[in-house]
Amino acid sequence: MSSITSKPFGTTEDGKPIRLYTFTNAAGMSADVSDLGGVIVALRTPDRDGAFADITLGYETAEPYLRKGPYFGALIGRFANRLEGAAFELNGAEYALAKNDGDNTLHGGREGFDKKLWDAEIVEAPNGAGQALRLTYVSPDGEEGYPGTLRATVTYSLTDDNELVLDYEAVTDRDTIVNLTNHAYFNLAGHAAGDIGGHVLTIDADKFTPVNAACVPTGEIREVDGTPFDFRKPTPIGPGLAKTDDEQIRNGGGYDHNFVLNVGGEKLEKFAEVYEPTTGRVMEAFTTKPGVQFYSGNFLNGSEIGKGGAAYGKRSGLCLETQYFPNSMKHKNFPSPILRPGETYKHTTSYKFSAR
Ligand code: GLA
Repeated sequence: MSSITSKPFGTTEDGKPIRLYTFTNAAGMSADVSDLGGVIVALRTPDRDGAFADITLGYETAEPYLRKGPYFGALIGRFANRLEGAAFELNGAEYALAKNDGDNTLHGGREGFDKKLWDAEIVEAPNGAGQALRLTYVSPDGEEGYPGTLRATVTYSLTDDNELVLDYEAVTDRDTIVNLTNHAYFNLAGHAAGDIGGHVLTIDADKFTPVNAACVPTGEIREVDGTPFDFRKPTPIGPGLAKTDDEQIRNGGGYDHNFVLNVGGEKLEKFAEVYEPTTGRVMEAFTTKPGVQFYSGNFLNGSEIGKGGAAYGKRSGLCLETQYFPNSMKHKNFPSPILRPGETYKHTTSYKFSAR
């Protein structure tokens, strides 16, 4: 069973105290999570010799998390990834959103859920894992252009099997859209270990959603067979990244694509595994969501200075952002992200760490 301690982690621009919560389980794994954006600041997991290292990219203090950045470890909302034209139509009305990524909107707009100070409460874990951290954010009607007051709750827990579990819930008082995720960047060799090309990835997906040059899904659902997007068997990431003759690798600047999961739905099921051969670290990922954005850290360029002074270079971390598909209000063949009053958006995603 894990227990949680907490300490101050800076202040917001309007002077509110930010805290950092540290989970420790019986196996010695620990995780630091902040009430600012629900950010996973650190995750310490064992390698095959039992040596612990911090395997998630992040900053030492709260201040850089308040700036525009690469969303290290943060909760993303109301809508993860892109909506084309920074607008959507719902019940015949057109909603205009912030254009914060060319002509499109990305990750909730100008000030998404990653920049909000969430209300924090230590509760009993839903899965018997001891203490859990429940974060709540109430997004007012019209915030960032989205209709309806959205009450979002994300509960973090850590089991003794080294599984970090994120339970998401949201309710609304008007028809709206919602797509929540966590944007943790993993490097299983250690957060400052550099290029992730040697990581071996498996994703249980027969199909993915191709993107245009602005990284927005076109609506097509394409078979991964015979493409660099076939991760149905354990496959190192580097060789696919090198296939710059592939239009989709070019459009994403590497991997920055939504995969249509073969699993996902009512039951929490394994959809991916990442293996790092030099340390033996393994991350298994489970979800109830229909898609995952596999992002290979293409926009990192060494300008973000993180924990211990690490300069995070291009492709020094990878993200597996579970989600509804990006641009899913344009394409009716994608699962619908619409949430109505009386319904509950309810999803679970977890990451389980081991070594071999
Ligand atoms: C997501 C997007 C990427 C990029 C990163 C953050 O993965 O798909 O294009 O915006 O977030 O930099």
